[in-house]
Amino acid sequence: MRSTSSREVEAIGSERRRDVRQRSYGRLVHPMHRMQWMSWLVAVSLLMWVATGCEREDWKPDRLAYRSYSTEDATIKHGRQAYKTYCVGCHGEAGDGTGPAARFLEPKPRDFTSGVIKFAAVEAGQLPHNEDLERVIRRGLHGTSMPAWRFLPEETLGGLVAYVKSFAADEFANDEPHARIVAAEDPWAGWGEKKAVRKGAAIYHALALCSNCHPSYLTKQEVFDLSKAEYGSGTTSFREDPYAGVVTSTDWGDELAAPDFLTAVLKNGTGIEDVYRVIVSGIGGTAMPTWRGALPEEQLWALAYYVQSIALLRGTTEAKELAAKLASQAPFDPVKAKAALEGES
Ligand code: HEC
Ligand code: HEC
Repeated sequence: MRSTSSREVEAIGSERRRDVRQRSYGRLVHPMHRMQWMSWLVAVSLLMWVATGCEREDWKPDRLAYRSYSTEDATIKHGRQAYKTYCVGCHGEAGDGTGPAARFLEPKPRDFTSGVIKFAAVEAGQLPHNEDLERVIRRGLHGTSMPAWRFLPEETLGGLVAYVKSFAADEFANDEPHARIVAAEDPWAGWGEKKAVRKGAAIYHALALCSNCHPSYLTKQEVFDLSKAEYGSGTTSFREDPYAGVVTSTDWGDELAAPDFLTAVLKNGTGIEDVYRVIVSGIGGTAMPTWRGALPEEQLWALAYYVQSIALLRGTTEAKELAAKLASQAPFDPVKAKAALEGES
């Protein structure tokens, strides 16, 4: 555990001073005015409720073009205000991810000063579009401390997006608008989901080799059989522990294991479109690459169905049984497996 830096102490100190200030403002309300104050509060709460309760979930992704928020004072000001209320404790005054709470959190809050975020529908590592920032802020990231800000009015959300981008103003000003990764049509929907899961398992373990970073969910014999059936040549070599995620480091210097879908919460949720979007886009600043273009769309969607099928097992007895089966599998003999293959052909 690293010790508290003077900067953090300073940050905590200034939070405290603000707290004290707020408390003394509270006491300035004269008792005579308390009733007026109360009814004002009720009115404001009602207004907030009306404003946020009708929030549409289906806000259109294409509605907001790249850099469409003006950086006019009013938007930024509004964003700064909201940021200081809701976000500063984790993401920090300077947007560098070092708010007073940050040292207690794992994963760490994002540093906004490079402009790159993890979950954007662009090639991993490129600047996000407003829509990406909106989606992450609205929905939060499951399994992390990043909350879902579902009930913020649109205007506040717009202000927050503009303010968050202002921490990397140079990057956003100098970079040309770039292609958003748009979802291709799901070729399996409505008829072939089960088939997609089977195809996805083969692609995951033997073609795209997601299992080079993420854990494998098949016994070695099963990987051999499946790769033989799908692609003709049976896989006989495996990394040292194929049932653990490989640890790599992020661009910001954290160590990060490729998640085990059987136990980790998917940060973007288990909806098929969310899983697909993460796979095709990749994850900015991390080892998780962009898969758009590397495989045909049909295979990318199959991968999404396969990963989703594993993620949905999380916490069930089937998950336990699968883990137990993998742990207790018979030793795999590549020489024997190969000999059997040659004997057949
Ligand atoms: C309790 C702490 C906490 C608060 C409060 C918080 N965040 Fe976060 N936020 C996080 C963490 C932790 C991550 C990184 C999660 C990860 O790396 O997977 C994150 C990530 C993000 C990201 C980047 C997501 C990505 O794809 O990389 C954005 C944008 C963001 N937060 C915006 C905000 C805004 C705007 C607010 C205020 C309305 C806010 N956050 C409040 C903890 C917090
Ligand atoms: C070079 C290593 C590497 C390879 C190869 C790789 N991943 Fe990842 N993947 C990662 C890392 C690291 C993360 C964790 C990022 C994070 O949580 O911030 C990740 C996260 C994910 C997530 C989680 C998204 C979420 O919402 O939490 C999915 C889904 C995923 N990978 C699917 C795949 C699939 C499918 C493949 C193969 C086509 C693949 N990955 C190949 C390293 C890799």
